[in-house]
Amino acid sequence: MCGIVGYIGERDAMPILAKGLQRLEYRGYDSAGLAILSNGTLTTHKRAGKVADLLEHINGETIPGTLGIGHTRWATHGAPNDVNAHPHESFSRTISIIHNGIIENYSALKKELSKRGYKFRTETDTEILATLIEDIQKNTGAQLEEAVRLALNEVIGAYAIVVISDAEPDKIIAARKGSPLVIGIGEHEYFVASDASPIVEYTKNVVYMNDEEVATISRVDGLSIKTIRNQVKTPYIEELELNLEEIEKGGFEHFMLKEIYEQPTSIRDSMRGRLNARAGTVSLGGIKDYEKKLLNADRIIMVACGTSWHAAMVGEYLFEDLARVPVEVEYASEFRYRNPVLGENDVVIAISQSGETADTLAAVQLAKSRGATIFGICNVVGSSISRETHAGSFTHAGPEIGVASTKAFTAQLTLLTLMALRIGHKKGTIPESRYQTLLAELDRIPEKVKETLKTDEKVREIAETFSSVRNFLYLGRGYNFPVALEGALKLKEISYIHAEGYPAAEMKHGPIALIDDDMPVVVLATNQSAYDKIINNIHEVKARNARIIAIVSKGDTVISEMADYTIEIPATAEQLSPIVSVIPLQLMAYHMAVLRGCNVDQPRNLAKSVTVE
Ligand code: F6R
Repeated sequence: MCGIVGYIGERDAMPILAKGLQRLEYRGYDSAGLAILSNGTLTTHKRAGKVADLLEHINGETIPGTLGIGHTRWATHGAPNDVNAHPHESFSRTISIIHNGIIENYSALKKELSKRGYKFRTETDTEILATLIEDIQKNTGAQLEEAVRLALNEVIGAYAIVVISDAEPDKIIAARKGSPLVIGIGEHEYFVASDASPIVEYTKNVVYMNDEEVATISRVDGLSIKTIRNQVKTPYIEELELNLEEIEKGGFEHFMLKEIYEQPTSIRDSMRGRLNARAGTVSLGGIKDYEKKLLNADRIIMVACGTSWHAAMVGEYLFEDLARVPVEVEYASEFRYRNPVLGENDVVIAISQSGETADTLAAVQLAKSRGATIFGICNVVGSSISRETHAGSFTHAGPEIGVASTKAFTAQLTLLTLMALRIGHKKGTIPESRYQTLLAELDRIPEKVKETLKTDEKVREIAETFSSVRNFLYLGRGYNFPVALEGALKLKEISYIHAEGYPAAEMKHGPIALIDDDMPVVVLATNQSAYDKIINNIHEVKARNARIIAIVSKGDTVISEMADYTIEIPATAEQLSPIVSVIPLQLMAYHMAVLRGCNVDQPRNLAKSVTVE
């Protein structure tokens, strides 16, 4: 959460920061600000609201200066207003800082600094850090880099920070622990950002910073990196795989819609080089070295949050069904704090689009410290979780910018299916013919998803009918139960309609009390194995006057007759059905949000990358 960007070079910093903030806005969008250092003078502008509000406030003025920092915020400490917006200045306003993370011991630090006579203007933890750096400089005469390093030794918590000072006008200091930071290296210029999106337009050479590293970028000496314990590190320069087109809307009205439509490609990309249906093989290079651990695991524990947790639930069905290994699915936030029993024969699979989710990262670190082997399924290359795991596979979904996760979810399901199939086949728990059939069907999934996208107009019409309701229920069984949860989450988060996902049969143990003609019910009814049971569940709902929207397999006549609205999707194997059946639910949430005038890509109170617990 929070996006940070910095620039030092020969061009005007302001347009680079403004564009960078727009690209990073998906990370947090309750206030924004920037500071430019020119001729030893710091000029700061900040505003509650979106980056557009900040730019309107600046009113087209270009603040001259070739060094600056910018921030887009998701509030943790202090309300989202002009004052609490970043950048923050130290007590005497000589130092300016942007920060993504939480300084957990900020109140102890504040008390100490207050005793020494410092006053504070904001409610943020970040301002404390700025003044702590100033205080260290005052007491020790240290240069900025050294003072930042010493200050970070006193800090408990997570941070990605960029610091500038009017006393050292040719330098940027950046540091990270727990929150991501990447440095772009151009010709006589450097960029620092929370992710590569503000950088890719200018250079493909990047250095991903590691935890507890402090980078000094100087116009004179270039880039150097030390740890906070003063050990010199050699920057490891990598080439970015990201393209500019991938982070632009490409003619779509919203990133979310673009990302929904990208799924035939992103699913195919996630299989590329891994699935060879003709040869009947699945190869996963990233897990090769630790595959034995998966084959011999007593138990698999999947940890994740939000949509990735729903993918993990589908993963549970897949691994138990195909690889016959017990699976537990855990909310990372619960797992990390409940002293879980873990051993050497346990395998943990951490699933995360961003690879930065604080709770998932902490769960990984805990499991690792207890001797478990950790696999990662992440979308962002270079992300913290992907670097913390022993092995793993990247979902090649491309950058996901809409805050509501769509293409990352289907890419995660693709990877989990490939893993479960490979492990099941190697263990001999799937009959050969079944294995070959599933591989062939998986290969057809991108086409089936493309076909499913043709339901868009019909889904929009249904959304029109229901856009003013206040509640929704989503029901599914078996593989479609996690999809019901995911459909409900999508609707809640972007259209602000209250929605619940339930296992269809569990409904009668409580939620059925809510059902009346004002409670539309979406039923995922593509399962072959529980078909009759789903029909019974639909009867139960219909008897209470609910209007039913059924997602059925093409050619279904029975459920179509019973439902008030039917969305037909291509039939597929039950194990693969979530990848297809989630598509109309994503479209439904999207259209509902548009019809209700909601901000689809940046829903209120949310942020894309949840780097605080
Ligand atoms: C929902 C959504 C969130 C994320 C969750 C985990 O649409 O995007 O629920 O799924 O915050 O994020 P990652 O996958 O980045 O760990």
